[in-house]
Parts: sequence; C-alpha cells; structure tokens
Amino acid sequence: MSDLKSEITKRRTFAIISHPDAGKTTLTEKFLLYGKAINTAGSVKGKKTSKHAVSDWMEIEKQRGISVTSSVLQFNYDGFCINILDTPGHEDFSEDTYRTLMAADSAVMVIDGSKGVEKQTIKLFKVCVMRHIPIFTFINKMDREAKDPFDLIEDIENVLGIDTCPVNWPIGSGKAFKGVYERGTNSVTTFTATQNGQKQVAKDEIAWNEENHDELIEHMGVELYDKLTEDVELLDGASAEFDLKRIQGGDLTPVFFGSALTNFGVENFLKHFLDMTTSPLPRKSNKGIIDPFDKDFSAFVFKIQANMNKAHRDRIAFMRIVSGKFDAGMEVYHVQGKRKAKLSQPQQMMAEERHIVKEAYAGDIIGVFDPGIFSIGDTLTSSDEKFEFEGIPTFAPEHFARVRQVDTMKRKQFIKGINQIAQEGAIQIFQEFNTGMEEIIVGVVGVLQLDVLKFRLESEYNVEIRMDQLPYEYIRWVENADEVDLNSINGTSDMKKIKDLKDNPLLLFVNAWSPNMVQERNPELKMSEFGKA
Ligand code: G4P
Repeated sequence: MSDLKSEITKRRTFAIISHPDAGKTTLTEKFLLYGKAINTAGSVKGKKTSKHAVSDWMEIEKQRGISVTSSVLQFNYDGFCINILDTPGHEDFSEDTYRTLMAADSAVMVIDGSKGVEKQTIKLFKVCVMRHIPIFTFINKMDREAKDPFDLIEDIENVLGIDTCPVNWPIGSGKAFKGVYERGTNSVTTFTATQNGQKQVAKDEIAWNEENHDELIEHMGVELYDKLTEDVELLDGASAEFDLKRIQGGDLTPVFFGSALTNFGVENFLKHFLDMTTSPLPRKSNKGIIDPFDKDFSAFVFKIQANMNKAHRDRIAFMRIVSGKFDAGMEVYHVQGKRKAKLSQPQQMMAEERHIVKEAYAGDIIGVFDPGIFSIGDTLTSSDEKFEFEGIPTFAPEHFARVRQVDTMKRKQFIKGINQIAQEGAIQIFQEFNTGMEEIIVGVVGVLQLDVLKFRLESEYNVEIRMDQLPYEYIRWVENADEVDLNSINGTSDMKKIKDLKDNPLLLFVNAWSPNMVQERNPELKMSEFGKA
C-alpha cells in the first residue's frame, strides 16, 4: 500500500458530544490514556486550572471558567490515528459546536446513565441526523445509581428517533454495579473499580453459561443473575439487530454501557468503535464527489478562531483535509479568494499542546494562520481543477439583540468589528427590513456569544456598545422571496421581518407555534430552518 493510502486508511475523525457534565471530558481523557498521549488522568482538564492551557485565549473564558471554543486532539491507538473534535459542553454553546460536526465522520454521544437524553444532546443530534453522521452511544456513570437500561434505550429511540442496538448490557448500577454482559461474546466482564480511574484496569471475563453458574452467582448475587437471565432474553426481542450498514448510515446507534471515571468499558468501546467506523469519508463538491485518496490536497474551512494571540490580533482558520496530503508551507489555491494562498504555521493539537505540523492527511484537522482572507466553508485545493465543497449551512440563531455603538464617531470601527466577528461565524448580523445598517440586529446560537461580542468590540476594537435583547427565539429563512411579496403576507402579531446583509429576507418569531401558523396562512411561502450554505 502506498504511504498516502495507508496513512489515510488508518485515520478516524469523530466528534464527541454530550450534555454538560455527562462525562465527555473524562471519556476523552481515558481515550488519550489508552493512546498513551497522556500519562495520568486529570491532565486534560483540571476544571479550573490546566483546562485553560488548551484554549487560554480569551479573558471571558477565564472569568467564567468555561471553554468558549472547541479544540481538536490527535492521538494514535492500536495502529489507528484518531482525531477527536471536542465540542464546548456548556449550556451556552455556539454555532461553532454545530459546525464542528461538519468536519467529523462520526459522533460519539455520551449520556449520563442517571439522566438519559438531555436537551443539548437533542440539538446536536438533529444535526447528525441531517448529515447522516453515524452515532455511537456511550451510557456513562454506571458506577452511580442509573435509570433502568431498558428505559434508557427507549428514551434514545423515542426522543432521538433512532434505533438502538446494545453491544453490552449493564448488570446493576451504583454500588451494586457488577459489570456488563457482552452480547457478541456471550460473556460477563466484571467491574473492578480502581482508585480514581488513574490506571488502566485488568478485566476479568466469565463466559455466560451453565458451567460457570456458581462463579457468576458468586460475582453478582442471585437477584442480578436472575435479572440478567431475563434481560438477555428480552433484549433479543426488544432491540434492533446489529447491522453495520445501518450504523454507518446513521439510522442505528450501537449502545455501550460503562463508567469513564473508573475506566470501565472504555477500551472495549474504543475497540468496537474503531472496528465499526470508516476511514475518512468523501465529500460532495460542485464538481462531484472528492475522494480522500485523491493525490491532490483539498480541504474546507469549518471554523475560524480569532485573537489567539492578543498581541497580534491574528486568526486561525481550522480546516478539515478532505483529500490527499498536506505539507507544511504548501501553496494551494483558495477557491473563494480566487488566488493562491500559502498555508503557514500549520498547527495541530496533541493533548493540551499546540504544535506545528509538517505533514497531515485526509481526515486530519489543521489550523493555519489566517491574515483575514478565509471564511467559513471556503475550499482550498492543490488540484488544477477548481471546485467548491458543498457549503456549511447557517444554523438558526436562538437569541437576538439590537446593537448600536454608544459613540457615534466610532461608526467605522463598529461596522468593521462587527463584520469581522460575523465573518468568523460567531454571530450572524441582520438589518431592519425596511431600513439599512443604522440598526443592527445580531443573532446568536448561544446567548453567551452576545457577551463575547460586547467584550470583543470593547477590548479589540475599542467600541462601546449598547445592546437590547429582543424576545424572538425562532427564525425562518424565506426561500422564495422573488415569488412572494413579503409586505403583503399574512403574519402573526409576534412576527418581525428582517433581512441579512445580502438583502435576503427572514422572519423572526417569539412563539414556537407561530412559524407553522404563518405557513398555514401563506401556503405559497417557502420557509427553511437552516440558512443557505
Ligand atoms: P463533561 O465534559 O461532559 O462536562 O463532563 P466531565 O467529564 O467533566 O464530568 C463531569 C463530572 O462527572 C466530573 O465530576 C467527573 O469526574 C464525573 N464523571 C465522569 N464520568 C464519570 C463516571 O463514569 N462515574 C462517575 N461517578 N462520575 C463520573 P466533577 O466532580 O464535576 O468534576 P471533577 O472536579 O471531578 O473533575
């Protein structure tokens, strides 16, 4: 196999998603531990301290003790080269979180066994479904009192609308947690807690058969033994059959139970996951499908992060390599900029350190220095044929505010600052429908981004702003504005018409049911929840 082929074949690129506190960071850390990228647990994120080593670029993060940005980690395990795209886990996450999913080939969903599916998981999940991203579920914290496992899988099926296929099955939970039954090998993996999960654990397996009856009873007690006997039978009837095609198509999620904190079930999950996922997937472009094994380099920008180095006000453009190989200092064609660009200071993250990369392959994520030329969704290629990757959709903001500068003399800086921040994709800007730029309406996915905007305009552009939050929460893009006269549509009392900077009209609503009502009243109107890519 050629170098290019073998390098790409061994790559796996996935996003890890969860509701805050479900255990995403702990699980990621354990993956790194198995990959020997770190030596002890606790080094990726000591919540209030070392975590900032990863993204210590914005005061606001420090003030609030949260991570506003998402990062990428690369490590090797068992012959694979793994890229994990971390997503900010706090409530106030941003559009970046959604976009990160566009750069992944699969997603690992971490669920807290005592809580089941939570709000944040649902939102991210919808994006996975839209893109048919395969989802692997890890039900965590089984060493704590958990919900009944049948209720947990039913919850996933009902709330998320996807079939489940448990790969293993828990035996008790909390203090009575005795391990899991592995359906594939018909055996029981016993649970042994280690001190704070600092070290990898040796595990014991007992085959699930009559011969081992006494040993099994001794391990789990009669009650759990009887329950497991019943569960195993029920499971075959209650869950979908294992079907790799359906898993890879994003219709069926394999479910694993474990406890990231104590290392239980983590390596088993990683092994199955690597077995079931594919190497980097091709992507669509306006010139057809681009294959990862193409010898020409190509990539798309999915995230722009500003001001990592405050002294320089620089930006880093993160791109997912779709095909070929990247060499440091390479000159490529920037399709949207219509000119050649040298990709300088390419960086990758390894555990908590940023380092310069010399080469990278399809499936990898690199961050390059951006002098202000890249936008989200841009294509870069070394091919002679110029093509553009399918764009990244604009996700519906859920919070809106009217923004104006306090000092009217600073109009220019205000417009420049707000435009640059919008170009990075942290905010979306709109205008009143019938007037121009005098009043700017800002839309954000996570409400924290409004604070970030205020903070950055003041600290980077020296512009003080006034911000009045608006009550709207629902937005619809109008897809056929050339066919309908928006001034004469029959709206609801809570509806507001706005337009984006390209004069495309949009509708804002306060109430969740209003968009449907407007649709019913104006059947000719075509509305969409996602903006044009
Ligand atoms: P997140 O990234 O999804 O937000 O979650 P994180 O890993 O930070 O975990 C949230 C809390 O849950 C942490 O405790 C963590 O130690 C705990 N946790 C994670 N996995 C497990 C598990 O399998 N079992 C149990 N019992 N707890 C688990 P914390 O006290 O909030 O933080 P810390 O100070 O211990 O880091």
